[in-house]
Amino acid sequence: MPKSYQNLFEGNRNWVNAKLESDPAFFENLSKGQKPPFLWIGCSDSRVPANEITNTDPGEIFVHRNIANMVVHTDMSMLSVLDYSVNVLEVRHVIVCGHYGCGGVIAAMGNKSVGIIDNWLRHIKDVYRFHRDELDAINDDKARADRFVELNVIEQVYDLCKTSIVQNAWANGRFLQVHGLVYDVANGILKDLHVTVSGDSEMEKIYVFDKGIVK
Ligand code: CO
Repeated sequence: MPKSYQNLFEGNRNWVNAKLESDPAFFENLSKGQKPPFLWIGCSDSRVPANEITNTDPGEIFVHRNIANMVVHTDMSMLSVLDYSVNVLEVRHVIVCGHYGCGGVIAAMGNKSVGIIDNWLRHIKDVYRFHRDELDAINDDKARADRFVELNVIEQVYDLCKTSIVQNAWANGRFLQVHGLVYDVANGILKDLHVTVSGDSEMEKIYVFDKGIVK
């Protein structure tokens, strides 16, 4: 693990050499363009690097990360990533990946003010409010936080499905699946929450746009 700023460059050179050793055309091929089948919306947490934990290479996953892997429908950065990946790169799978022990989710469970991030965490507090009965019934703090992490991922999956971008893809007959995953920092295992949505027939009706109106 790099310990100093200079170590980053040393690490980079070693990585380049290792890649070239296994595939001399690795960078040449990447330079031609990207066609990743996956968009990954994950947490900024340094312990959850999308490529590394899925054993994939550069070029395979388009990535957006923010604190607590949130899909906030007024977030221009997230919307731009989503629009570009769905409509230009034509990804087939959008993945929301949360992780147990997420500092953002745990902070959202409490009442301590941590600065400007309070405003971001408020979106996660909404998730708690939706699921208060289930979460309040869990006495163990860690078990409650773990379930909150899962419920937060599930809500973000549904929030993705509510965007005009995803609905438009479905209206146009495109194959696009939205998945919810949780990563366990303590053992490295990635878990499918089995909440995959493949079309708007699986959604609550209030959020579904009429066909032909979606632009
Ligand atoms: Co996190």
